[in-house]
Amino acid sequence: MASQMSEKRLFWANDYSILGIETSCDESAASVVRANTVLSSVISTQGQIHSGFGGVVPELASREHERVIISVIDEALKRARISNPSREIDAIAVTKGPGLMGSLLVGVAAAKSLSLAWGVPLVGVDHMEGHIFASSLETYPAELPAMVLLVSGGHTQLIYVSGPGSYQLVGTSIDDAAGEAFDKVARLLGLGFPGGPAIDLASRQVEGDFIRFPRAMLNKGYDFSFSGLKTAVLNYLETNKVASPELVAASFQEAVIDVLVKKTFAAAKAYGVKSVVLGGGVAANSRLRHEVSLAAQEMGIRSAIPAPIACTDNGSMIAAAGAYRLAVEGPSDPAFGVEPSAMLKYYE
Ligand code: KG4
Ligand code: ZN
Repeated sequence: MASQMSEKRLFWANDYSILGIETSCDESAASVVRANTVLSSVISTQGQIHSGFGGVVPELASREHERVIISVIDEALKRARISNPSREIDAIAVTKGPGLMGSLLVGVAAAKSLSLAWGVPLVGVDHMEGHIFASSLETYPAELPAMVLLVSGGHTQLIYVSGPGSYQLVGTSIDDAAGEAFDKVARLLGLGFPGGPAIDLASRQVEGDFIRFPRAMLNKGYDFSFSGLKTAVLNYLETNKVASPELVAASFQEAVIDVLVKKTFAAAKAYGVKSVVLGGGVAANSRLRHEVSLAAQEMGIRSAIPAPIACTDNGSMIAAAGAYRLAVEGPSDPAFGVEPSAMLKYYE
């Protein structure tokens, strides 16, 4: 088994064929990754099911995972041209947390059953480590050390990465996550769920002249706060009944991205990193991607920004992180349980 870990890049590869399974929230996803190449990636999204509720309904999410998970895995194997998984798949990686309890249980139960049936090792993966590893599947994995901005529906974190598995938490949200703020503001504006893509799209119709919403804690350390911004949007809508939803959406987006980019690059400078990495669903945002690559160019460092489909939840990122965990820790005990509130292990 050949394996390699680069000292200089956020990259881990071996010649394993790994089936990655992800069901932590509202995407049922499976992927086959071989030697850092994505052979297939199938994602069944539940957006429509939850759109009327303005957020993910946990029970509906787990029932939908249960309904589709086998066909999603089957399709991922077919697209990767795997006809005999017990011979052609070397390991199964599955998200063990953080996420919704019922949703996680569906993916983990499927992974445990297949591991037993095929006689292949199983490894439980931290979802956030998956988001970090998404960038390792790109053509040019990030140069190390790197500052990773992880922005999803449940997290907003700045993480200093000196090597695979070596993470230092630099900043985090003290209230709402960035994605949560996008979803809540989209709901206020009647733009549907998930809110991030809807706000991204609406904002493209607006050029400049934004409403000046507050930028909380802009020059105060590396932590984030977005709940005040959400309240400012609500207050604005109450006093401006005929406000253009597109203008409000774009102005809100501008405020979030301004804070994310300024703090990320302040941290990048302070920690002397060689690259800035994006991960998590909000990293699919077109404005954030643009601003981060510009700021990196200005600073003379690299930016590693995975394709939008690799930023939102998917099975490939779990397979990539699983390859690393398997190599350094070996397979998980098959009795392992889901961890809805799991926290990545950081060093001080
Ligand atoms: O990483 P992810 O797929 O799931 C979690 O682990 O939470 O992130 C989902 C979040 C949602 O809040 C969604 O609104 C947001 O990512 N999102 C976006 C965009 N696409 C997804 N936010 C801003 N702009 C986007 N284009
Ligand atoms: Zn995620």
